[in-house]
Amino acid sequence: GKVAVLLGGDSAERQVSLKSGDAVLRALVDSGVDAHAFDPSEKRLFALLDEKFDRALIMLHGRGGEDGSMQGALQLLGVPYTGSGVLGSALAMDKIRSKQLWQSLGLPTSDFVVADKSTFEQLRCDDIITRLGGTVMVKPAREGSSIGMAKVSTADALRQAVVSAFEYDSQVLLERYIQGQEYTVSLLQGQALPSIRMQTPRDFYDYEAKYQASSTEYFCPSGLSDELELRLAEIAQRAFIALGGNGWGRVDFMQDAEGHFYLLEANTVPGMTEKSLVPMAAREAGMDFGQLSLAILQTSLG
Ligand code: DAL
Ligand code: MG
Repeated sequence: GKVAVLLGGDSAERQVSLKSGDAVLRALVDSGVDAHAFDPSEKRLFALLDEKFDRALIMLHGRGGEDGSMQGALQLLGVPYTGSGVLGSALAMDKIRSKQLWQSLGLPTSDFVVADKSTFEQLRCDDIITRLGGTVMVKPAREGSSIGMAKVSTADALRQAVVSAFEYDSQVLLERYIQGQEYTVSLLQGQALPSIRMQTPRDFYDYEAKYQASSTEYFCPSGLSDELELRLAEIAQRAFIALGGNGWGRVDFMQDAEGHFYLLEANTVPGMTEKSLVPMAAREAGMDFGQLSLAILQTSLG
């Protein structure tokens, strides 16, 4: 049938989505799929019906595409779509709810405090820095690609970073910074792909390290022992399923100096750009970009 590759949108990750969507669209067309670009920021969603699309491959990142709202709209239109459903998408988009859920299930994630715009004035920034171990990651609850994030170690810097993060979301996650290594596990149709370790000389793995810097290093295979690789994959699967994730995704982690893993977040529409991680993990598993794109499309059939 006819496939709409949804790309672009109007979230802060629009540019990343255009790259992901273009790459996947080209791969599908090369494989003989009747696929077409569809940017919901340029057209009414009802056009999917007028133009007789049979299914949608969601390559929208962030709000309005990855957060459950698009999934709900497609469901009401009766258009099958790839990846996670309404609830899984909404929960995974929200780093605070994700961590609350994981914590309640005994899954490992670092300590945190929630800053809400309406009550922020009452937050004691110096106490929070102490309570969270001296260095704190400040993250808008529902953003992606490290947009709006900061790493701070003083009360003044914390206050400033929270005010900046409120430009992106009314709720902000203040998370204990884990000093160590960063890993990610890609999930596809119930299987964990080989983990990747990311290393950047920058202060943290931010937007520039993700998409622009040539100094970012990727290790895949990541170098973990078989036992730790298995452990990481198991935590990733459990964390994804706990949120209601489905089809495909990517779960991000830190590992501290003692070797303990901590869940950072799950992505239900992870990047598919040239520099992105899921394609890298798939390649290590013997799957090229075209095969990966077809496998993602398949997740709309189930
Ligand atoms: N939010 C970006 C697209 C990612 O997770 O890869
Ligand atoms: Mg993310």
